[in-house]
Amino acid sequence: MYFPKLSPLQSRFAGSLVATLLLLLIYLSITNPQFAYAAAGPEDVYQHRPDTLGSHVGEDVIGEGVGVGVGGRRGPGFEGLERGIIGRAESGVNALKNNAPEQLNITPGDTQYWIVENSTLWGSRAPQPSQTGRRHRRRDDGFDPQDTLQEDEDGWELDESFDGVEDLRARQVDSGRTRTLYITLNTCIQPSSNSSNSGLPPQLQLYVSTLSDNQKPGLNVTNKNQKVVPADGGFAKWTLNATGDTYIGVFAPPSTSSFQGIYNYEIAASIDEPYHSYNDTGPNLFLVDSDSNSALLISSNLSQSLPDDGDLAKIKPPFVMFAHNQNDSMIQGLQNSYCGLKKYAQIAALRGEGNSSATNAVTMGITTRGQKNEPKEQFYVTGLNRSSSYFGYLAMMGNSTAADGGVVGGGGRVWKPMNFSTKSDGNCQIIYNLTFCDEVAYAVPSNPQNSSELASWYDTNALSYYQNFSYSLQQVACNTTSSAQYSLARTCQDCEKAYKEWLCSVTIPRCEDYSSTKSFLVKRNVADQFINGSLLPDNDRQKLLNLMYHNSSRNPSIDTELHPGPYNEVLPCEDLCFALVQSCPAVLQFGCPSGIGSNWSYGVRSESGDITCNYPGAAFQLPTGRTSAGNAMGPTNAILFIVAGLWLWL
Ligand SMILES: *[C@@H]1O[C@H](CO)[C@@H](O)[C@H](O)[C@H]1NC(C)=O
Ligand SMILES: *[C@@H]1O[C@H](CO)[C@@H](O)[C@H](O)[C@H]1NC(C)=O
Ligand SMILES: *[C@@H]1O[C@H](CO)[C@@H](O)[C@H](O)[C@H]1NC(C)=O
Ligand SMILES: *[C@@H]1O[C@H](CO)[C@@H](O)[C@H](O)[C@H]1NC(C)=O
Ligand SMILES: *[C@@H]1O[C@H](CO)[C@@H](O)[C@H](O)[C@H]1NC(C)=O
Ligand SMILES: *[C@@H]1O[C@H](CO)[C@@H](O)[C@H](O)[C@H]1NC(C)=O
Ligand SMILES: *[C@@H]1O[C@H](CO)[C@@H](O)[C@H](O)[C@H]1NC(C)=O
Ligand SMILES: *[C@@H]1O[C@H](CO)[C@@H](O)[C@H](O)[C@H]1NC(C)=O
Ligand SMILES: *[C@@H]1O[C@H](CO)[C@@H](O)[C@H](O)[C@H]1NC(C)=O
Ligand SMILES: *[C@@H]1O[C@H](CO)[C@@H](O)[C@H](O)[C@H]1NC(C)=O
Ligand SMILES: *[C@@H]1O[C@H](CO)[C@@H](O)[C@H](O)[C@H]1NC(C)=O
Ligand SMILES: *[C@@H]1O[C@H](CO)[C@@H](O)[C@H](O)[C@H]1NC(C)=O
Repeated sequence: MYFPKLSPLQSRFAGSLVATLLLLLIYLSITNPQFAYAAAGPEDVYQHRPDTLGSHVGEDVIGEGVGVGVGGRRGPGFEGLERGIIGRAESGVNALKNNAPEQLNITPGDTQYWIVENSTLWGSRAPQPSQTGRRHRRRDDGFDPQDTLQEDEDGWELDESFDGVEDLRARQVDSGRTRTLYITLNTCIQPSSNSSNSGLPPQLQLYVSTLSDNQKPGLNVTNKNQKVVPADGGFAKWTLNATGDTYIGVFAPPSTSSFQGIYNYEIAASIDEPYHSYNDTGPNLFLVDSDSNSALLISSNLSQSLPDDGDLAKIKPPFVMFAHNQNDSMIQGLQNSYCGLKKYAQIAALRGEGNSSATNAVTMGITTRGQKNEPKEQFYVTGLNRSSSYFGYLAMMGNSTAADGGVVGGGGRVWKPMNFSTKSDGNCQIIYNLTFCDEVAYAVPSNPQNSSELASWYDTNALSYYQNFSYSLQQVACNTTSSAQYSLARTCQDCEKAYKEWLCSVTIPRCEDYSSTKSFLVKRNVADQFINGSLLPDNDRQKLLNLMYHNSSRNPSIDTELHPGPYNEVLPCEDLCFALVQSCPAVLQFGCPSGIGSNWSYGVRSESGDITCNYPGAAFQLPTGRTSAGNAMGPTNAILFIVAGLWLWL
């Protein structure tokens, strides 16, 4: 800790100052300034009781109080002094320290006041994480934020010589200097209403002033410069280039009588990066598929790439997610606040936060399925209601490796929500994490009675066909010199890959509710009973029964072994078939159907982001990175036969 050398005169001044401060302390401890703590509210509301003004000044007095008087200079560690000494700060104003959030209840109609002191503003910044590239710190003030020493070398903070020339230089450099200050607020709790048509409670408002004659910015202040920032979805942020003390008011607008309860909020100031954040760029979370009570979602590509040894366990999942039923309005008004989502969201995928049912409902992990096999985070969300629409929120706990006070960005991040819905019929079930068909992750025809072994049943089925194909391929000149190869452009590996992609899509149908009326769907297995035992109305049933492609599944063993009942199939994409024909030796006699037959055997991809046909790694609304799969070749007139003698009819 740095202590400036004091001249005898300065020492005497400092001594009397300490006495004054002690008097002030006694005064404050007697009068016990009032604070706006609302005792009411849910028991689980967590409150940091901020230091009272009194104890704050006291600490400083006992600490480095002597530092003042040296031409207004203060070294690090002389925080909180100015206010006490000059007596400028009004009572009921609490100090916010860098990256140290405070949480309080507030009653509608009240205003609470905070101050970011000059010493906090000019205090040292949080050390930068050791990994490079992730976080980039601002340099708007001309300092190298990584290195406080450089700040010292600038000559005005740790300057040891007090001769006039040096002093003047320091002042000149100071004037016009600003530092970026981020003030952020998250609403954690808001009043609720017992009637469904009363709308939403009003949002909290953040008032910011930098004027010493407006130390309590708020609603009733007139003719004084202040900034008002209403929270949006429970999140408010104000960034300013501050020069000194910054005053903050948090105002809870009074709500109509239909609302009851209080607000609770978390507020933080940071000179590093916003402590809380909301990011409205999107989408960043994508639905892979849903069934009647679960959904599989993936994040966008992670910034980390796959480790050299391909071990996914080495990547720590950076994101968390929340989901909430769209019919339940509890989340509205808090949806951009990490603190609010944590409190209210029906489904919360958090790590290391107990084992509530909301947390247990989500399985998180890393997957490389889909687009170019980049690592992504995957969320398997269970415990959903059927035929319901949900909001899905991608979020980050703190900076992803650490959270809460003392961490830059420790208050969490929230991204713009996405929508997803669950299915209604109950005979489609999500499978993922298959061993052979590793790119398969979607809902497949199922029957609740035999759902547990579903993934391995489909996987084993596909693998058995593949083995037959493998034997056939071995008859072909694959591993010979290039002149003897069947194609210069394609190898047996290409053929194996194309065959596997095609085979998995064809033998593992993508399932949709029978009740869905989307034009690209094909009805299957219509003669069978629904899982509740009912049959289709006789009229419809008779009509459909005569068409073989409606009467059974593409892979008949699904009907005979699983008994899923009538369902709709999302057809495999036709480009999977074209790629197969292109990649494999002609002698294997693969061909794709054309004309009328192709309408009920293959589908066509859509640019809209909808999944109109089934392809490996599909997810809804992904940015259209069209696959490299060949479109060059059109359909032939042949019908696709599997060499192994097994005829999967189209
Ligand atoms: C998160 O914060 C902790 C503590 O400040 C730090 O050690 C860690 O490197 C940070 N992580 C990231 C990803 O920035
Ligand atoms: C809602 O709460 C208010 C205040 O407690 C009460 O007067 C009113 O009857 C309640 N309305 C309903 C529909 O319960
Ligand atoms: C603003 O002024 C009105 C009337 O003077 C008073 O009732 C109200 O409590 C004040 N509000 C705040 C936030 O100070
Ligand atoms: C802060 O100052 C920098 C550089 O002078 C400027 O680019 C930036 O827009 C300012 N920010 C705010 C919030 O005023
Ligand atoms: C704030 O602190 C800095 C550095 O300690 C100092 O140069 C500046 O004069 C102070 N500003 C005010 C308004 O006190
Ligand atoms: C918002 O998120 C996107 C994608 O995740 C990222 O590229 C962007 O930098 C973020 N914006 C802010 C302001 O953090
Ligand atoms: C992931 O990366 C791949 C390849 O770089 C790109 O085509 C794709 O659009 C990315 N996906 C998302 C969701 O950003
Ligand atoms: C959800 O709300 C929609 C329209 O607001 C309504 O049609 C639907 O029945 C509701 N669903 C449930 C499960 O309450
Ligand atoms: C988690 O669940 C286990 C058993 O179900 C229980 O023993 C344990 O106390 C729980 N932990 C927390 C933090 O709730
Ligand atoms: C499911 O529906 C019930 C009854 O409508 C509702 O209470 C519950 O919150 C819903 N759960 C989810 C996760 O949507
Ligand atoms: C995926 O399967 C492997 C074994 O095949 C298993 O160890 C792992 O836990 C599974 N992952 C998930 C998320 O189910
Ligand atoms: C061709 O050779 C490679 C490596 O030598 C081997 O992995 C592959 O199985 C062979 N392919 C066939 C069809 O025999």
